[in-house]
Amino acid sequence: MAAGCTIAPAQASAQNPVTLTIQADKPVHAVSPTLYGLMTEEINYAFDGGLYAEMVRNRTFRGDWSGLLDWYLVEKGDAAAKMTPDHATGPSKALTGSLKIDVTRASAQSQAGVLNTGWWGMALRPETSYKGSLYAKAGAEIGPVTVSLVNDKTGKAVASAQVTGVGTEWKQFPFTLKTGAIEPSSTNHLEITVGKTGTLWLQLVSLFPPTYHDQPNGRRVDLMEKMAAMHPQFLRFPGGNYLEGNRIVDWYDWKKTIGPLVDRPTHPSPWNYHSSDGMGLLEFLGWCEDLKMQPVLAVYAGYSLASEHVEPGEKLEPYVQSALEELEYVTGSTSTKWGAVRAQNGHPEPFKLTYVEIGNEEWFDKSGSYDARYTQFSKAIKAKYPDLQLIATAPVKSAKPDVLDEHFYVRATENFHDANHYDEPAAGSAAPVWGNGRYDKADRSGPKIFVGEWATREGSPTPNMGAALGDAAWMTGMERNSDLVIMAAYAPLLVNVNPGGMQWATDLIGYDAQTSYGSPAYYAQVLFGSYLGDQVLTSKLSGAGEKFFYSITGSAAKKKLYLKLVNASSEPQTVDVAIDGVKTTGKTKLVTLSAADTQETNSITDPKRIVPVESAIAVSGGRVKHTMPKYSIEVIVADVE
Ligand code: AHR
Repeated sequence: MAAGCTIAPAQASAQNPVTLTIQADKPVHAVSPTLYGLMTEEINYAFDGGLYAEMVRNRTFRGDWSGLLDWYLVEKGDAAAKMTPDHATGPSKALTGSLKIDVTRASAQSQAGVLNTGWWGMALRPETSYKGSLYAKAGAEIGPVTVSLVNDKTGKAVASAQVTGVGTEWKQFPFTLKTGAIEPSSTNHLEITVGKTGTLWLQLVSLFPPTYHDQPNGRRVDLMEKMAAMHPQFLRFPGGNYLEGNRIVDWYDWKKTIGPLVDRPTHPSPWNYHSSDGMGLLEFLGWCEDLKMQPVLAVYAGYSLASEHVEPGEKLEPYVQSALEELEYVTGSTSTKWGAVRAQNGHPEPFKLTYVEIGNEEWFDKSGSYDARYTQFSKAIKAKYPDLQLIATAPVKSAKPDVLDEHFYVRATENFHDANHYDEPAAGSAAPVWGNGRYDKADRSGPKIFVGEWATREGSPTPNMGAALGDAAWMTGMERNSDLVIMAAYAPLLVNVNPGGMQWATDLIGYDAQTSYGSPAYYAQVLFGSYLGDQVLTSKLSGAGEKFFYSITGSAAKKKLYLKLVNASSEPQTVDVAIDGVKTTGKTKLVTLSAADTQETNSITDPKRIVPVESAIAVSGGRVKHTMPKYSIEVIVADVE
């Protein structure tokens, strides 16, 4: 947040003033400490070409009808060569094919080989080391293999290394490419060439920039920092539709995503591109550790997107067993079979796990099999792990889930009308009902609620200010009802904004190879996550129009009050606040996120157009009179004694 900046004073309110009375010594209930978290899956090049910092695209040489994706032949000077996919030789049981390069003419000056264009380029910075490796073998003595980072515009190498000793057996060769005093840019590619005739096979060509916490096989620093600023409490993974796959054969088979990269076969994702599985199960858990989030692990429950399901009973049993083994991999000690595998993969310490989700959006399964499938999973998991909290993804009758996952992708207007969705029904009103596959009327005697995916879908690729206002209105409702709504996650989280990068519009954080930006909705999340509070306080509102929303929380431990106010209207709004029951110290700050109109937004070329601005605000004798700008989300943070 930009601290100490000034914001233009709001114009006089054309609307009637709102009166807000806060009884700060009267908590209504605790705020769920896990309320805000992240939801993730491989969509919009979220991992490959996004968070997963790998710079080489199609590092395992998958082909399609047009040949090898993202790889091109290099014939410098009068060199001559041919590249073909070779399905008969590869370095491992998982990677059984490779790229074969037949060089028929080459010299030290006229080298031949291949190049990779990366994820819409390769971002390079000055004086930086890039660590890579490749698997290679040769038909006979091929001489040194030169690996270079080359500027697309000049054609000149900006960093080079040589790999020597390539023999007739597959072997992994590490290398480091260090840039000098270059201009940062993403118009670069990777070249791998030789200066001798012969045959060279390549597989798993990989290159990483410095990563968050310098982890090998790690994550992009800028994106991790943006997520950290949201103060997320959990990570829901691996999906989403990515968990389910299009067909049953494409399900997220976690065992194929662990261990050395050369042992990961990769798999098709339902979002029309192939996943490298470099972000595998252990990497998701590492991401949780990095940002101090708890894992919310979704296990495949036998339904895939092409309306295919596994019959409950004997046929489902292998999937149930796989889920049990997955739980052992995550939580088991090293004396268990799968805990020992985790240790072998580099993480002896078990992970703490509380929530396990059974499937994803199972209301899509029109066969009606989810009830029995959920129950089969639930019985098996609870028998072995009685303390785990299980999340159903559609209502079930044969078992009582601990938590129900509900999803909302809506327009801002819908959020304005539905911001009290989870309010308790007033005394005497209709009994809670289940409708449209969801709980309505906020039944307090049913499962707790996880709003596992939600977003105001206005703006592309990332949401605009109007969407941020819809989001903020919705968040005030979840926060006020966080005795019931224990977790919530915006989705999708990430989008590569390059042409072809997006499969689902309106995503929280956008990026290309080099930079990233937060949308206005991202900053709304930052505000709500930063000033959560631990108790919802008694409050009363009067005089508010249809586009005013609020949530009042406090933290006794931090001696703070948090007033989250949303003015989604086109006019300024004066708010008259009376804080009773505690003594305000007078130390108060105001954080404002606002825009001139609802269509205003941030973008990769204008990343900071709408950001929160901090300023001072006067509180005297527990009274604040303040005029909110039009289209604004504000937090008043008041110190109390
Ligand atoms: O967030 C995009 C998709 O929306 C998720 O994969 C799916 O769960 C939902 O339908």
